[in-house]
Amino acid sequence: MDCIDVYGGRPLEGDVILSGAKNAALPLLIASLLTDAVIELKHVPDLKDIRTTLALLQHLGVEIEHRAGAYRLSAANVACFEAPYELVSTMRASVLVLGPLLARFGQVKVSLPGGCAIGARPIQYHLMGLEKLGAEIWLENGYVIAKANRLKGTTIRFDFPSVGATENILMAAVLAEGETVLENCACEPEIVDLANLLIKMGAYITGAGTSTILIRGVTKLHEATHAVMGDRIEAGTFALAVCGTGGAIRVMGIAPEALGTLLAVCEQCGAQVERFEDGFGMKATERMRAASITTEPYPGFPTDMQAQFMALMSVAGGRSYITETIFENRFMHCSELARLGADISVGGGIATVRGVPALSGAEVMATDLRASASLILGGLFAHGCTRVNRIYHLDRGYERIEEKFRALGARIERRI
Ligand code: UD1
Repeated sequence: MDCIDVYGGRPLEGDVILSGAKNAALPLLIASLLTDAVIELKHVPDLKDIRTTLALLQHLGVEIEHRAGAYRLSAANVACFEAPYELVSTMRASVLVLGPLLARFGQVKVSLPGGCAIGARPIQYHLMGLEKLGAEIWLENGYVIAKANRLKGTTIRFDFPSVGATENILMAAVLAEGETVLENCACEPEIVDLANLLIKMGAYITGAGTSTILIRGVTKLHEATHAVMGDRIEAGTFALAVCGTGGAIRVMGIAPEALGTLLAVCEQCGAQVERFEDGFGMKATERMRAASITTEPYPGFPTDMQAQFMALMSVAGGRSYITETIFENRFMHCSELARLGADISVGGGIATVRGVPALSGAEVMATDLRASASLILGGLFAHGCTRVNRIYHLDRGYERIEEKFRALGARIERRI
């Protein structure tokens, strides 16, 4: 099984060009189900989760062409409305086909995603939203089955600003009859990216990126071309890496505001940040100071950066409290970071990290996508060699990460 060896202790220098955001690309690809016209998507990253989504779309009957760096998707001949267990169980975002298929074809059957390593991750907000739009929904043999005549616009308030539920119901509402108001929506930049594609396709949407989104339904959407936004989690991962190794890098391909509070937290820790229109510079000349964070919906500190931040706090000066509020079981990286010499204790959803002067390389095991990134960072901060096993998790979400780190001067190799 592939693993990655990291030899730490080198400062990072140079430029990183970001890949397209996985979490934006997944709903954008799925939005192609909303029309019989061709949707062209550029800057789609080459990742395991993207290949799973393309396989799911092909399974449904979407014709896909990949030419000159762009995907052309045509859902003109969709004849299957079922997302099977094999696909949904490996990638939870498959549940996003619920909204588009129901809105366009009036029927859909999707396997329940079940639990995953970081928590239970139920989908009740998605189902509540679709029911409010007029769908009849029931569970049968581990599948969610939904049927509807044309969906009808209404006001829907989410109990929690779920990213996936906001995207799912937004996609359903664009083809619903009349006006839909979504309240307490997630405000993540990926939702704005999705709304921008839908608007190019002819949808009427205002307020995406705020907690209230208004949608006026149309009967048909048309062709559109769109480039996926840069990956803010990849950007943040490189930013925290240089904070820990020292050095100076420029991360290009994203508006700095898309990172929410993350850059300000880096400044609080002692890094120097320069903001450009389409990227930022990050310089670290001294050991970082500890800071405490709580994960929150955007623009708060992202749960997808929590594990990487913990790796940085492991070598910062002082004590840091890291509170996870989004997923109930997202501290599995703690025991692996401890193998590198980190001093972390966990209780009641809070990890207490006492910074140590240095980590030392060890063999560790990735448990989920962002946990694997934290172990790569731990390896970059440690003396000696860190071998990260089970890196298939990493390949779900980071495109050519070891190549990108090598270009910045890191010594990091994949062993096949
Ligand atoms: C998305 C991101 C993921 C990120 C997460 C939170 C994608 C493909 N994935 O996941 O990387 O970590 O946002 O920023 O974009 N919940 C329910 N019921 C629901 C829906 C959600 O209880 O119907 C709970 C979840 O279990 C979780 C929390 O709400 O505890 C946040 O989930 P949500 O925002 O929906 O995350 P995802 O869309 O799954």
